[in-house]
Amino acid sequence: MKLLIAANWKMHKTVAETEEYCRSIIVEEKLFGDVDIVICPPFTALFSAAEVLKNSSIKLGAQNIHWAEKGAYTGEISSAMLFELGIEYVIIGHSERRRLMAESDQQIHDKIAAALSYGLKPILCVGESESERNRGTTDHVIEKQLKSALVGIDQAKTSGLVIAYEPIWAIGTGKAATAEDAENAARYIRSKVENLLGSRITGELRVQYGGSVNSENIGSFVELPSVHGALVGGASLEADSFSTLVQAARKAVHN
Ligand code: PGA
Repeated sequence: MKLLIAANWKMHKTVAETEEYCRSIIVEEKLFGDVDIVICPPFTALFSAAEVLKNSSIKLGAQNIHWAEKGAYTGEISSAMLFELGIEYVIIGHSERRRLMAESDQQIHDKIAAALSYGLKPILCVGESESERNRGTTDHVIEKQLKSALVGIDQAKTSGLVIAYEPIWAIGTGKAATAEDAENAARYIRSKVENLLGSRITGELRVQYGGSVNSENIGSFVELPSVHGALVGGASLEADSFSTLVQAARKAVHN
């Protein structure tokens, strides 16, 4: 399975900064081999990013969507609006949104359904907090998040679904999970998703690891049997260092 490395910029970069980044990253494109790259800028920069990247193989993702197609939802953006821009991926259920915006399991489920109905590929984020981990409830937390997000989703439409295992304690802390923990969680996720959505998904489901990924540690994650990519925050913000990270991932899987 091809690696999928996604850059989650969070609330960073103006349109001008986005254009500059995208122009730099396409110059490096040939160095990425067959690694699939997705850049997720803020909403305001998606249109400009799409213009700069239109002749490249680098894909775009959004960081959130609303579950409705349209309506009285001040400040929200729908799948239909993203689809029109040619956006291919959307991050759903990031822990920052679950925690800071009080996103509920039901809303995350509805966002997954909305994204899939427009052919957008969701990157569903799951992962435990530090206290949940210390209590030994990691698997239980992940199972609950997967169930609430995926039960009732039309199995015929799950093509392109990606799950990002992002332990909350590893995000932005410089304290990445060990390869062993990432593999255990990714393997568990794969088996749970197969149970929920059927074994048809097995061959195409990509599970990413996310949380303090950088060019030094990416190799240890992408060479794991159950991990097929990464969701990268801080280390994706400079085109140069993101390019180095992607090249390191490529090298690790081809060694
Ligand atoms: P980080 O963020 O790489 O800065 O830890 C990852 C994420 O939040 O997706």
